[in-house]
Amino acid sequence: MAVKELFPGVYGFRRNIASLNNTPGFRVYDEKLIKKKGKEYRLWDPYRSKLSAAVLKGLKSFPFREDSNVLYLGASSGTTPSHLSDVCFRGFVYCVELSRRMMRELMPVTMKKKNMIPILADANRPQEYMHAISSVDVIYQDVAQKNQSEILLKNAEYFRPEHALLLIKARSINAVESPKKVFRKEINQLKNDFTVLETIDLRPYDKDHVLVNLKRK
Ligand SMILES: C[S@@+](CC[C@H](N)C(=O)[O-])C[C@H]1O[C@@H](n2cnc3c(N)ncnc32)[C@H](O)[C@@H]1O
Repeated sequence: MAVKELFPGVYGFRRNIASLNNTPGFRVYDEKLIKKKGKEYRLWDPYRSKLSAAVLKGLKSFPFREDSNVLYLGASSGTTPSHLSDVCFRGFVYCVELSRRMMRELMPVTMKKKNMIPILADANRPQEYMHAISSVDVIYQDVAQKNQSEILLKNAEYFRPEHALLLIKARSINAVESPKKVFRKEINQLKNDFTVLETIDLRPYDKDHVLVNLKRK
């Protein structure tokens, strides 16, 4: 099986993708480890990570580089952040998480993957964690809140990233309105500050979710 690099640090394995493990032997969520020519890859599950789902659904522009600094809002127990830690192995992944319970699960991951920096905070209040962060190239946001675009705009104002990836969950914003309408309204709020590069529907991996790929104006 040949290993093809699809984007910097993202490798295709048959119908799946993987990242190059920066902590060989260490698994984060029971993902499969594959050894090839002296390197170890971690399979990147599209049902567990919306970024993997977006790549498999044809994401065209991947904003992460090996030295990117990422502000990750809604890090949870570290599934997707851990793959970004592999991809951006010369940068930092600042993992903002509101829930103490998820933070307890995230901590052991950040002890191993040293470029992941845990931050227990509310993504609505960037002023409370800006001191812990030097510079940000990309904001990745996956928080199930009613004001998803507003949270991104607040953080973009403080950190001025070049790119942002926003995961919008329609049901968290409005459970009765059609998801299409909800997505349109949220994306419209961003248009003064960002150019929309692409919007990816994540079905069948995740329903009611889109990934919006944004470049700051
Ligand atoms: C869908 S999960 C994220 C999954 C993760 N992005 C991944 O792919 O591995 C959403 C997370 O956002 C967190 N969250 C919700 N509101 C938040 C807020 N205001 N600030 C920071 N985190 C928040 C939740 O506690 C939850 O862990």
